[in-house]
Amino acid sequence: MKKNIAVILGDGIGPEVTQQSIIVLNAIAEQFKQEFIYTYCLMGADAIDKTGNPLPDETLDVCLKSDAILFGAIGHPKYDNDPTAKVRPEQGLLKLRKSLQLFANIRPVSTYPSLSHLSPLKEKQLEGVDFVVYRELTGGIYFGEKKVNEAYTEASDLCIYTKSEIERIAHLAFKAAQQRKKKLTLVDKANVLETSRLWRKVVQEIVPQYADVQVDYMFVDNAAMQIIVNPKQFDVILTENMFGDIISDEASVISGSLGLLPSASVGAATALFEPIHGSYPQAAGKDIANPIGSILSAAMLLEHFGLSDEAAVVREAVSWTLSNGFVTRDIDPVNSYFTSTIGELISDHVSGRIPSAVNHSNIELRKSTII
Ligand code: IPM
Ligand code: MN
Repeated sequence: MKKNIAVILGDGIGPEVTQQSIIVLNAIAEQFKQEFIYTYCLMGADAIDKTGNPLPDETLDVCLKSDAILFGAIGHPKYDNDPTAKVRPEQGLLKLRKSLQLFANIRPVSTYPSLSHLSPLKEKQLEGVDFVVYRELTGGIYFGEKKVNEAYTEASDLCIYTKSEIERIAHLAFKAAQQRKKKLTLVDKANVLETSRLWRKVVQEIVPQYADVQVDYMFVDNAAMQIIVNPKQFDVILTENMFGDIISDEASVISGSLGLLPSASVGAATALFEPIHGSYPQAAGKDIANPIGSILSAAMLLEHFGLSDEAAVVREAVSWTLSNGFVTRDIDPVNSYFTSTIGELISDHVSGRIPSAVNHSNIELRKSTII
């Protein structure tokens, strides 16, 4: 199978974590006789610096023509601390999502027994946690009209949804629930917001088409609490754009580190795969960031291509590193390994080049991943 992948390294730690995914994808290509062709493009602060535009036309063009997009991270502190900046890195990502109509952002949350000590939750609450957030990605308050008065003393962001925007992601979420534990929780704020009441109405109309799925409705403030108190109760969470942004970050720490979680954004055109973490500028260029969120996003990309065996091999290799203590410093600040070492170990595992006895001290010295 020959596939064209647009690669957007982006800002901060984006380049170094995405590079590890490429190494792993190359190992998969070699092992399974697949062909992946990469086209690198610019977006975010990197693109603003080089072209003045957070999403150059050329990037959009390449993305539209590709079979998938692998993306790193976006954001730079120089824009975060300047509320008056007219051009912002995030505009690039938002415009890309909108242009490609990537209306569903899928964020799976799973746990690893070897990392349970890192989770802020007790072991008893963690066992069996396995859910996925379906976050609407191209509507709501993110894309509604934005206003600010001339004196800059008043501002507003319009939250707006249409029935069809809700329906299309709801169907995807229901179908996912049918393949999983057959439970769907709609998270909203229907006791206050008109848009949330529309979400409930539209979802209730869809329910009869998925008779085998049990449906729950939960206010977002309660959901934020339930994710901590009893995360096991969730299977598929369906929610609007901003609630999904917030609760998926919250949910990510359950696994032990924000750096572990992948995501897929799907819609009308090319799908995009990215870790859920941000650009983590403090770590940029230091080779210390966790590449696993990106590598697991590459596994979701393989799944999207229908390459399930290949995706399983990547996930297996990731679990192997985690359970053998080959982790970055977000997971173990004392015995930590470099971003590039983890990438190399995972790709060596994919290629079947990891012997049963691994020499930890050689790896620490960055001599070779294997003896
Ligand atoms: C995310 C990010 C983005 C969002 C930002 C960078 C615009 O936080 O992908 O979750 O809010 O959607
Ligand atoms: Mn976010």
